[in-house]
Parts: sequence; C-alpha cells; structure tokens
Amino acid sequence: MATWATLIAILALVSSVRANTDSSDVQALGVLYTSLNSPPQLINWAPSGGDPCGNSWKGISCSGSAVTAIQLSGMGLNGTLGYRLSDLASLKTLDLSDNNIHDSIPYQLPPNVTYLNLGKNNFSGNLPYSFSQMGSLTYLNLSHNSLFQQIGDIFGNLKSLSELDFSFNNFSGSLPNSFSLLSNLSSLYLENNQLSGPVNMLTGLALNTLNIANNNFSGWIPQEFSSIPNLIIGGNSFANGPAPPPPPFTPPPPGKPRTTQSNSPPSKNGPEGSPTTREEKKQGLATGALIGIVAGSVFAALCIIFALVLCLRNVKRRKNDDDDDVSNGRSDRMDRLAITVEGETNKVTNVEGSETPVATLKPPPIEKQTPERVFGKTGSIKKQKVPMTATSYTVAALQVATNSFSQDSLLGEGSLGRVYKAEFPNGKTLAVKKVDSAAVSLQEEDIFLDAVSNMSRLRHPNIIPLVGYCVEHGQRLLVYEYVGNGTLHEVLHFSDDTGKRLNWNARVKIALGAARALEYLHEVCLPSVVHRNFKSANVLLDEELNPHLSDCGIASLAPNTERQVSTEVVGSFGYSAPEFAMSGIYTVKSDVYSFGVVMLELLTGRKPLDSSRSRAEQSLVRWAAPQLHDIDSLSKMVDPSLNGMYPAKSLSRFADIIALCVQPEPEFRPPMSEVVQQLVRLMQRASIARRRSGEELGLSYRAPEHEQIAPESSF
Ligand SMILES: *[C@@H]1O[C@H](CO)[C@@H](O)[C@H](O)[C@H]1NC(C)=O
Ligand SMILES: *[C@@H]1O[C@H](CO)[C@@H](O)[C@H](O)[C@H]1NC(C)=O
Ligand SMILES: *[C@@H]1O[C@H](CO)[C@@H](O)[C@H](O)[C@H]1NC(C)=O
Ligand SMILES: *[C@@H]1O[C@H](CO)[C@@H](O)[C@H](O)[C@H]1NC(C)=O
Ligand SMILES: *[C@@H]1O[C@H](CO)[C@@H](O)[C@H](O)[C@H]1NC(C)=O
Ligand SMILES: *[C@@H]1O[C@H](CO)[C@@H](O)[C@H](O)[C@H]1NC(C)=O
Ligand SMILES: *[C@@H]1O[C@H](CO)[C@@H](O)[C@H](O)[C@H]1NC(C)=O
Repeated sequence: MATWATLIAILALVSSVRANTDSSDVQALGVLYTSLNSPPQLINWAPSGGDPCGNSWKGISCSGSAVTAIQLSGMGLNGTLGYRLSDLASLKTLDLSDNNIHDSIPYQLPPNVTYLNLGKNNFSGNLPYSFSQMGSLTYLNLSHNSLFQQIGDIFGNLKSLSELDFSFNNFSGSLPNSFSLLSNLSSLYLENNQLSGPVNMLTGLALNTLNIANNNFSGWIPQEFSSIPNLIIGGNSFANGPAPPPPPFTPPPPGKPRTTQSNSPPSKNGPEGSPTTREEKKQGLATGALIGIVAGSVFAALCIIFALVLCLRNVKRRKNDDDDDVSNGRSDRMDRLAITVEGETNKVTNVEGSETPVATLKPPPIEKQTPERVFGKTGSIKKQKVPMTATSYTVAALQVATNSFSQDSLLGEGSLGRVYKAEFPNGKTLAVKKVDSAAVSLQEEDIFLDAVSNMSRLRHPNIIPLVGYCVEHGQRLLVYEYVGNGTLHEVLHFSDDTGKRLNWNARVKIALGAARALEYLHEVCLPSVVHRNFKSANVLLDEELNPHLSDCGIASLAPNTERQVSTEVVGSFGYSAPEFAMSGIYTVKSDVYSFGVVMLELLTGRKPLDSSRSRAEQSLVRWAAPQLHDIDSLSKMVDPSLNGMYPAKSLSRFADIIALCVQPEPEFRPPMSEVVQQLVRLMQRASIARRRSGEELGLSYRAPEHEQIAPESSF
C-alpha cells in the first residue's frame, strides 16, 4: 500500500515537472492570444490552459517550466498586446516585430526581458513609464510605429541597453536628459520623427552609430559627434555657425569634459587656417567656462560680454557662411566633422572598417519644414485628434438598460452626477454616469468628446475603463465598466458583514493597487492626469478585493470650477490638501496628499472627518499625523476591527509612507512611483518573512492567514 502511494506520488511529481508550464505564464499567454484575436496561425495556442512548453506552442521557447522567449515576427498578427505580459517573469526575448498589432504599448511589460522588438507594427500612444524599470534590457526596438508625444525621462536605470531604435515614429518635443545615463548604449536610431531641441545630452555616450536624421533638432552640432564612426544627422535645423558659449550653469556632459583644445579630436578634413580653426578656439573657451562651474557667475558675466562681441563679428561672418552653403550644400564645419548625410530613408550598414568616415555630401532636403509636421516644439499636440475608442450609445438604449434611470438602478452619487446600474439585453452590466449639467459648464460637444476620447484611453488594471458615452438631446452620459463589490468607503465604514472585513494584507494590497492607478495617471500618461477627487468612495473593489479607481480624467470636464461645484468639495472634504483648501491650487501632489488620507483610513478604519468623535479626533489627519512615528500610539490608532492581526513592522512602514504623503508642503510629498516602490518593498518583505516562517513550520503545514501575520511576529 505504502509503496503504491509513494510510486504514484513520484509519478505525479515527475509528470508535473516534465509537462507543466508555470501557470502564471500559461495565463499570460492565454490573455495575449485572445488579445491578438486568437489567430489560427499560432499553432497549438489556447485562450486558457494548455501547456506551452510541453506542447511546443508556435514561437515559444522555454527553460524548464518557464517561458523564456516569444518569437512571432512577421506572422500577420493583429489585435493588441493585452495587459498580462508582466506575469512573464522569466521571459528574456520578445519579438513581435513586423506584424500589425495596434493600440498603445501596455504598461504591463515582462520585467526581465533583455531583447524587446515591437518594430514595424501599428502601436500608437506614448511610451509606458514601466520601461524605466526594465533594467535588463539590452535591445529595444520600437521603430516603424505611430508612437507620438514627448519621449519620457525613463532611461535612468537602463544601464545595459546597447541598441535603441525609435526611428520612424511620430515622437515630438525635446530629448529627455536621462538619455545621457545610457552608459552602455552603442547604437541609437531616432531618425524620421518630429523631435526638436538640442542634442547635447548625447555627447557623453560612447556611440558607434547615431542616426537622428529628418527631425527638427536645433542648436549647434556638438563637436563630440565627430568621433562617432557612423553619424547621420541630415534633415534637421542645426545651426551652421560657430558654437556660442553654452549657458553658464549647464552641467558638463558626463564622461569627458574637454578643457583644452589639444584634447579635441584631430580635424581630418578641415583645411588649416580656415574659419574652423577659429571655431575650435571659441569652443575650447566655451567648455572652459563649463568646467569652471564654481565660478559660474563670474563666467556668466564674461560669457555675455564675449557673446556680444561674437555677435557683432558674426554679422559679418554669416554672409560668408551663406556663400559656402550655396556652393557645396553644407558649411565647411560639417565637412570637417565628416558627416554622412543622406536624404530620406537611411540606415547605417557599414558599422565596421570605416576608420575615416566617408563624407557623402548629398544636399539635405531643402524643405525641412514640411506641412505634415504638425507637432511644434511646444504643445500643438493638443490639436492631435486621438481616435475614439469608446462606443456611442443612444439615450433610448441607456434608458431601457437603467429602467428609465429608476431609483432602483441608482448605484450612488459621484462627482458630477448620479451613477446608475445598466443591464443590457445582451446580458452585459455597465455603470452609467449621468453628468449633471449644472455641475459642468455646458460645453461644446467637441470639447466633451475630446475629454471622452482622452478618458477612454486610460487603461490600467486598477482604473475603471470608460467604455461608452452619449451626447444626445443635450444629455451628457458616461458609460463605465461595472465593478460590483462596493466602494472602499462602504467596506471600511459601513460594513456590518464581518465576512467582508478587510484583513491587513487586503488593506496593503488595496493601497498598492490604488497607488499604481495614480502612478499611471501622474507619471505614465502624458500630459499627466490629475485625479482631483481621490477618496475611498472612488475606490471600487471587485470580488477579489482588487481596487479600481473611478472618475479618472473626469476633472477635465469641469475645468477650473472645482471651488464652485459645492457637492464635489463637500464630498472630498477631509481629503483636500492644505494648498487646495487655502488657495485653490491643485496639482499631482495634492492627489498624493489625498492618497495619504485614504491610507490613513485603511490603517485606522476611521473616516477622514467624523463629527461624532471628540473635537481633537474629528479630523483624521490632524489627529493621526503627529503620532505616526510612535509605535505605541500606532498600536492604539490601528483599526480595532483588525483584532490585532497585523505584523507590527509592516504597520509602522505603512505609517511611514502615510507620513510622507500627508506633509503640508506639497513639494516634500513623494511622487506616486516612489510610494508604489515603498509599498512593493513592504509587501515583498512580508512575503519573504511569511515564507521563512513557513519553512520553520515545516513544508507540509500551511498556516492559516491569521497565524502567519500574528502580532509581534519577527519581521
Ligand atoms: C486579424 O487576424 C485574423 C487572423 O489572422 C484575421 O482573420 C482577421 O481578419 C484580422 N483582422 C483584421 C481587422 O485585420
Ligand atoms: C524577474 O524580475 C523580478 C523583479 O521584477 C525578480 O524578482 C525575479 O527574480 C526575476 N526573475 C528572473 C527569472 O530573473
Ligand atoms: C528594428 O526592427 C525593425 C523591424 O524588425 C528592423 O527593420 C530594424 O532593422 C530594427 N532595428 C535595429 C537597430 O535592429
Ligand atoms: C493603424 O492604426 C490606425 C488607428 O490607430 C488605423 O487608422 C490604421 O489604419 C492602422 N494602420 C494599419 C496599416 O492597419
Ligand atoms: C554592454 O553592451 C555590450 C554589447 O554592446 C554587452 O556585451 C555588454 O555585456 C554590456 N554591458 C553591460 C554592463 O550590460
Ligand atoms: C523647428 O524648430 C524651429 C526652432 O528650432 C521652429 O521655429 C520650427 O517651427 C520647427 N519646425 C517644425 C516643423 O516643427
Ligand atoms: C505621424 O506623422 C505623419 C507624418 O508626419 C502623419 O502623416 C501621421 O498622420 C502621423 N500619425 C499619427 C498617428 O500621429
């Protein structure tokens, strides 16, 4: 008997080791498959379940039971990438290039991927901020898509990145400074975008290949570029004259600031004694000013005088330069730099064996400012019509679905209007917000539709998506996905149902999810979205107690009227940051404050304002904030309904985060990405400690939740 049992156990173990793929990988691939519209060419793939590794799904490679590569280039795929790629923790290679996948690149990307190629697709929108966390990336290719807006400051941690290709997109604005931190970058392709501004932040990089052709970069071509073997910079608005002294406080480019002229690369093609020699002298002096940053202000004065003198002399010289341009298409300065200038679609092929770069001097496109270049340096981006992804509903359809907006269908009253539950004939349940026309200055339909279009593009697992709208008969309605397990406010303050009480882990999880939603709004979206009404009543919970933030982007419907809309202010009372209460100024940092208040609600189980309490305890922040660093007071403040079931360390870390968020000075409050990181760390520590205590208890025994997180446990 015993031997049989053992044998069966061993067989089960062996087969599970051999055949099974990690279940989170299977789920993630299933979501990817459905998001790609279940294409038949993905042989063996399934929308749910299955064994990608054991059953050799098309394009999948594994190591053990973990999926390590997805290679589906040129497979005729369409659809989107879905929102589960972040679960593919072991994925190293993701190649979906040369397909027709659309929509924005999701925030949820595989965290440990080293090779990522999404080139030649139809991705639109901006870069998700999550790229900033992908420190293992060595190759990133997003070329030939329709990505647009400014490239975010997301490169600070990408120390391994060696090839970066953003070419043939619609990126605009200036380059972010964090480009200068890409210490291992050797190839950079930015050609054929609408980028503008200077390129100085690239000077410290040890680049082999740089292609920035056909943009609208301006300023002077940095001298450092002359040492890049494969340089293509045609079709920009670079100035041709001598480089002027840089502004006195520009920090020196990282790496090797040049102090004297002797360090500059030998000029290969420049004739001696030509105007270029003079330029070098000036450049040398200018960088000298850079080094002397300590004496910056003295230099500033000198520089201004110097610049004035130069200006006067330039007026004379400019004429000569113009003559040169006419005669050989380029100034002799560029000639000296040995620049490969090609016209339109250029890719560097000759990476090796070109010690002396060839100067192929085709004239640059004469008309640099083609009419299609809609993006100006500042913000003509607004005019960009974003495609509408939300569905248009008729009033009649919504009336039927909500039983004529009956009292029975009323879910609640949010900012800007009442919310009704809508049940459609096809069985789908949605939530409909009837925008109160008194709350919104009745806007042009265009403006409303613009706002709807922007809101419908907010996609994050912790944000309730806007799926539809209606603008008939002077009505303004918004249709959202329905999240049915009540609001955080109800669960914390009105739930008698003990089964629904939130344990400590659930509270941390809710805080983290809500923080991620705000991080997305503030730091991923461009321009960033300020929520303006973050409170526990706007955090809805699903069956698994995942938080979903409502009313995202809706503040744009009531521009500059927050103070007048009395219901809203009353509704958010207790959550408002001091700067808003005092001066009506509301920024992302005011959202951070409100987030801190909601964390306080989670910790104490108290409402932000509670007139039934003693005077000193009516305002939650005023009462709690001074005690957040005191462990004894904390244990008295904590929600009694937790019955002491929380790890003391976790509680005090939670309190530390709150203290940062509810600081009266907005500038001291952390950005949401930092809050997210701290909450992630808090959770990781807790799960490590739990695993450790699990091992101590023996593997066979699974401790129930409340025993794992008993008070005074050791983490
Ligand atoms: C998307 O791909 C599938 C399968 O390859 C195909 O049947 C479908 O027609 C495509 N849809 C569009 C809109 O191209
Ligand atoms: C993947 O990255 C996560 C952090 O995002 C890390 O905890 C994990 O160990 C990594 N996994 C592998 C297989 O590298
Ligand atoms: C990026 O991907 C596209 C499409 O696969 C390809 O044509 C291009 O050469 C790639 N760029 C680099 C730098 O590898
Ligand atoms: C790419 O997406 C846009 C909408 O974002 C669509 O209009 C266009 O037809 C798509 N291009 C291709 C080649 O599918
Ligand atoms: C830098 O890039 C090279 C390839 O260009 C690679 O071999 C090397 O490992 C990278 N270094 C780091 C620190 O990632
Ligand atoms: C290019 O940049 C210059 C300023 O550097 C600006 O005057 C011009 O309008 C820009 N052109 C386009 C098409 O964006
Ligand atoms: C991208 O820019 C091109 C040319 O400038 C333009 O034709 C196209 O409509 C733009 N696409 C998007 C999605 O902005």
